[in-house]
Amino acid sequence: MGELESEKHVKYIVSIEKKKDSFEALVMEHLRLNGAYWGLTTLDLLHKISAVDPEEVIPWVMKCYDEDCGGFGGNIGHDPHLLYTLSAVQILALFDRIDVLDVEKVSGYVAGLQNEDGSFTGDIWGEIDTRFSYCAICCLSILHSLDKINVDKAVNFIVSCKNLDGGFGSIPGGESHAGQIFCCVGALAIAGSLHRVDRDLLGWWLCERQCKDGGLNGRPEKLADVCYSWWVLSSLIMIDRVHWIDKNKLTKFILNCQDKENGGISDRPDNAVDVFHTYFGVAGLSLMEYPGLKTIDPAYALPVDVVNRIFFRK
Ligand code: FPP
Ligand code: ZN
Repeated sequence: MGELESEKHVKYIVSIEKKKDSFEALVMEHLRLNGAYWGLTTLDLLHKISAVDPEEVIPWVMKCYDEDCGGFGGNIGHDPHLLYTLSAVQILALFDRIDVLDVEKVSGYVAGLQNEDGSFTGDIWGEIDTRFSYCAICCLSILHSLDKINVDKAVNFIVSCKNLDGGFGSIPGGESHAGQIFCCVGALAIAGSLHRVDRDLLGWWLCERQCKDGGLNGRPEKLADVCYSWWVLSSLIMIDRVHWIDKNKLTKFILNCQDKENGGISDRPDNAVDVFHTYFGVAGLSLMEYPGLKTIDPAYALPVDVVNRIFFRK
């Protein structure tokens, strides 16, 4: 089996930051804060967060902040959204700089997006999705502010999105999808409500995602894709069923998706690499305790030492 090309992946991630006028940077413009979170978390898992200067990252993150409402946009001047607010909080947590935030204001923004039925909208435009329930619960937990929302109602809404196959969808009745399952199981884990998950039924659905090539897919009949090494594996770990898949075969699949020359990981072998799949691959390997990587927390999607610093600092 090949090895993880750690140094090349570090170089690849650092180089994307510098190539601001590349095509990838252009199409990813509105996702900049998300992209920064994926890239920086990957560097930290590879023990190389020191390759970037926090004095450059943190002022840029704060330029994406909308002081009037308390949320973050995907880039400077963009409209605030829960997806980017979570990324901003996660990036600040990685650098241990939550202190730059007005926690009252940011947590007030997040809490203000909860609806009467416990669900969350992503922004003022009103789309409801369990992705946003996850973003809100994860973000508020990192900010020690879960008391600002009705957690019971938030949990009940997520449970109302559970399907007969044990999986979860984006809204009640929505098709089970591994990405949404991560969001629902992650939010329930953080809220201390994993007893609301049917572990055997969901574990069965999740482990059936492993394809002949060793990779995982996101739904029945779809091709394997490295990103599901994160969405599926993190969920299996949270419900304590990770031994139901073949880790060896999955590790091989991920390592086969590396660009061994220029660094980066793609969705499947021989495709073009991107920063998202580089994160998903490295994070998946971290979940499988690949040697030399920091361990990632499956619910917070941050290295375990960062999560411990948030909750157990003296
Ligand atoms: C599938 O993506 C993924 C999801 C639906 C989950 C997205 C979760 C978040 C945005 C929450 C934040 C996540 C973390 C880790 C902090 P897709 O649209 O690529 O699915 P497809 O393969 O069906 O197209
Ligand atoms: Zn993918």
